[in-house]
Amino acid sequence: MMQDNVTPPSYYKTDYWKRYSKVYDFLTRLLFTPFGGEERFRRKFVDEANIQPRDNIIDMCCGTGATTRLVAGKLKDGQVTGVDLSPDMMARAKEKVTGLPAVFQQASGDNLPFPEGTFDKAFVSYGLHEMPTPIRHEAIKQIYKVLKPGGVFNVLDYNLPQGIGGLGIRVFIRVFEGLPAYQMMQPGVLSGELKDGGFEILNRRQRLLGMFQIIQVRKPL
Ligand SMILES: C[S@@+](CC[C@H](N)C(=O)[O-])C[C@H]1O[C@@H](n2cnc3c(N)ncnc32)[C@H](O)[C@@H]1O
Repeated sequence: MMQDNVTPPSYYKTDYWKRYSKVYDFLTRLLFTPFGGEERFRRKFVDEANIQPRDNIIDMCCGTGATTRLVAGKLKDGQVTGVDLSPDMMARAKEKVTGLPAVFQQASGDNLPFPEGTFDKAFVSYGLHEMPTPIRHEAIKQIYKVLKPGGVFNVLDYNLPQGIGGLGIRVFIRVFEGLPAYQMMQPGVLSGELKDGGFEILNRRQRLLGMFQIIQVRKPL
């Protein structure tokens, strides 16, 4: 793993992610068990991205590498670069991709150390809601910069289910994820931010009773 002396933005809690890295995979598996399994849900997200074997791909906020691994499994001469601020989360990721074309780089999403037009595709799963709004806007701009023209950014994140049926989940998210995340999950907010970042919206789908959203956007040619 490439490791520079990265200074995290002030909101970022390195120790929190160090502790969380030990249980993250277990907890996400547990959370998705009633919905047919975590890997099945994630695999669908990756399958829909039309990955080509030679693609050069970035997985921002890669964490423990569950998405990175599925992306890497579709590559032949291509490569996926997982980027995260937590060396501990990425240490778990590294264990998952043995023999696959994946590398890791410690960096913040709002300061990506890659030249303009480096990647064919980009992914972020459950990463953008972790960032305060100004950092998230900058991270979207950075992904725009490092994608090639025509490159597609595939976003998977939480969504606030509407109506009385979604009330419990809205309260849960507001309490446990904080205000910037709650605001980002309001209908149309994240896709609006991606549009403001210069992207064309290809599609936006809600999944699992509206608790998740998948957005595909493209950097114009
Ligand atoms: C909820 S985890 C998601 C991990 C993984 N993408 C997944 O699908 O399971 C969020 C990750 O975002 C990372 N993160 C938060 N802010 C970041 C930033 N500014 N730059 C890079 N990574 C960040 C955290 O370290 C953590 O690993």
